[in-house]
Amino acid sequence: MLRAGSPRLPPGPGGPAVWSTLRLLERPLESLLEWQRRYGDVFTVRLLTFGTGVYVADPAAIKEMFTGDQSDLRAGEANEPLAPFVGPHSVLVLDGPEHLRQRRLLLPPFQGSAVQSFREVIREVAEAEVAGWRPGSEFTMRERMRVLTFEVICRAVFGVTEAGQVERLRAALLPIMDTGIATAFLPSFLRRDLGRFSPWGRLQRQLARADQLLYAEIGRRRAAPDLERRTDVLSLLLRARDEEGRPMSEAELRDELMTMLAAGHETTATALAFCFDLVLRHPEVLSRLREELGDGDGEDYLKAVVTESLRLRPVIDAAERTLTRPRVFGGYELPAGIRVYPAIALVHRREDLYPQANRFKPERFLDGETESYAWLPFGGGIRRCIGAALAQVEMAEVLRTVVSSVELEPVRPEPDPVVIRGITMVPRHGVPVRVDKAA
Ligand code: HEM
Repeated sequence: MLRAGSPRLPPGPGGPAVWSTLRLLERPLESLLEWQRRYGDVFTVRLLTFGTGVYVADPAAIKEMFTGDQSDLRAGEANEPLAPFVGPHSVLVLDGPEHLRQRRLLLPPFQGSAVQSFREVIREVAEAEVAGWRPGSEFTMRERMRVLTFEVICRAVFGVTEAGQVERLRAALLPIMDTGIATAFLPSFLRRDLGRFSPWGRLQRQLARADQLLYAEIGRRRAAPDLERRTDVLSLLLRARDEEGRPMSEAELRDELMTMLAAGHETTATALAFCFDLVLRHPEVLSRLREELGDGDGEDYLKAVVTESLRLRPVIDAAERTLTRPRVFGGYELPAGIRVYPAIALVHRREDLYPQANRFKPERFLDGETESYAWLPFGGGIRRCIGAALAQVEMAEVLRTVVSSVELEPVRPEPDPVVIRGITMVPRHGVPVRVDKAA
């Protein structure tokens, strides 16, 4: 068994795993920064459920991990608890050649011009959302953004625009995302169908209903007379062929639709909620954004605001890889079987990369591109987020629409504390806001 403090592992906080886990869940950024201050850029932490893992906050070591041969780094294994929802063909749960095959099929619909074509869809969805915000009303941004990002996935990824069908998909899929995913992490004796009132039994029924709708949608799309001209992700996947000329099977298509919803809906909503919490509390950023967008010349600044927000408030604190053979990282020889966490949140707070790293300063990104291994909200290497470009375009378009059409006021006096729920960092209170007036 691997133990923190064993001579082969880097130093790290001792004490029971339950203590480190609670600290990480309740104060993730503060805890990680404190461990880094005490133990350096490479440190070991023992966590409940995840076991012993090594955080790496050194960009050079992360670059080494994310470039070249990565066949000895597994990520699918750790996502295995998600397999009951996303299915056995999901890019999330596969490793090795099978993972690469799915990835090659999935990537093209999320690149370049394909993503640009989603801009219009996102704008429409954002405008319809904001049109429903009445002066004086209060809501949490995270909730509203969840509604919005679901709609964007339905239209841009699933290619479903008919309101009734969007509602049916929402009713069938969101309960799975809301409570079903937590069920996956239940102890194994509870992951059994003990009738329709047991969590696992309820989940099986929800999944059956969702599958019915997803397979029906795939069938309808396959038969659509305009399939060749359509630009939604599902249509592109139906036309895709692997290196041997094989199309994706029905089960593969279903699993990847579920995967894109699971990986892309909540994450983008949370990133947007964090972004609004920052922008609304920095009036100088908000007014510059409005001014530049008003002049019709605000694209660079808009992009910089999104980039800086993802730096200061990444949704995932660390990527995760399991070593299949011993390997040296950050000066330590780590044994096979250990989990290694490229520490996204810590790299983003390095003063040597980002002077005044704790401050929200979008202008730091105005002068050029981000450094690959210094800016990692979407992870890296052969597991880098497939939806990264879509998520950034979505954040930019929603931000543009909101700041150009309404005046919002944060309800709480302080920025929302960052906590971990499930596997993502989220604002504890969901960023409550009040609508003041139309801008
Ligand atoms: C702001 C929003 C998002 C954030 C912060 C985010 C972040 C991430 C991160 C950190 C990873 C793991 C990368 C690694 O291990 O190196 C990941 C993987 C993934 N993401 Fe995203 N993501 C976002 C939105 C999306 C969207 C919109 C989609 C699709 C519609 C998506 C689909 C995926 C998929 C399929 C993977 C698995 C890739 C693989 O294993 O090869 N994500 N994402």
